[in-house]
Amino acid sequence: MAFPTETVYGLGADATNKDAVARIYDVKGRPTGHPLIVHISSTNNLDKWAQQIPEYAITLARTFWPGPMTLILPRTELAKDFITGGQDNVGIRVPSHPLALSLLKEFESLGGLGIAAPSANRFGKVSPTSAQAVQEELAEYLTPDDLILDGGPCQIGIESTIIDCTKQTPQILRPGGVTQEQITELINLEPDKKSYTHSSDVKAPGLLESHYSPKAKVFLSGTPQPGDGFLALSSIATPTGAIRLATPVSDEDYARQLYSAFRLADSKKIERIFAVPLENEGIAVAINNRLSKAAHQV
Ligand code: TXA
Ligand code: MG
Repeated sequence: MAFPTETVYGLGADATNKDAVARIYDVKGRPTGHPLIVHISSTNNLDKWAQQIPEYAITLARTFWPGPMTLILPRTELAKDFITGGQDNVGIRVPSHPLALSLLKEFESLGGLGIAAPSANRFGKVSPTSAQAVQEELAEYLTPDDLILDGGPCQIGIESTIIDCTKQTPQILRPGGVTQEQITELINLEPDKKSYTHSSDVKAPGLLESHYSPKAKVFLSGTPQPGDGFLALSSIATPTGAIRLATPVSDEDYARQLYSAFRLADSKKIERIFAVPLENEGIAVAINNRLSKAAHQV
């Protein structure tokens, strides 16, 4: 079942069921061996999936869950290789979208232990931030038994912050809605800023490649020509002849509209998108990260 979260829509399956999880890989067209995030309804269920949880990770969990944060932790027996890609750690998240929480609670009341869910897009493509986008992205790969829960547009719009909690200090593997500044302020540990894709031992194949890409070619500098797509904060005027894809009024709004702007460009068969990156702080770090990946610059 595809379901909404506050970040992006996920494609969910019983995280203990090998066959169900295998279908996620089929539908996404994702190479096997890429680990999946297990979604749970509250920290009460954390011990089922993770062990030897460092103190700072507990603080992070208490503060930012439910919310846009995934913690990578040493796994228990329950987290099988088909979830972790054969690693000894597992990614866990408690989402805050009410529909996601209801789904998880209902599933757990029936004996379920967690829902594995990657973003509900084809491999390497743009994450969906509405039920309609899931439908457009995956319809031809779904069967009549597969469901898409419609929870409206996602509030945050880009994927969760992934934090490696397997060492003495946390390391941000993917920037997201929970920011570096928030983390540093809370636990007084400086996560390594340069580590997003390179220096962690944790294997996160999806984080290494160009990703989050629309069909259009994305440029982060240069001047758009008439007919090109344009994406920038509302304070920046649209260059003559360019097609405005979104008019976000703040960084948060930029995050919310980023992927739907990419989708809009593809639906209009626009071939080039000129996106103006933001000043690198707060959630803008995550936006700039996705823009760079879309532009194949990471
Ligand atoms: O906001 C999100 O995180 C969304 C929603 C649906 O929760 N999910 C999401 O999942 O973005 P996915 O699979 O599209 O991206 C998760 C990334 C992948 O690149 C994967 O390789 C990495 O997280 N990952 C998952 N588990 C991991 C683990 N145990 N160790 C290292 N990386 C992991
Ligand atoms: Mg994804």
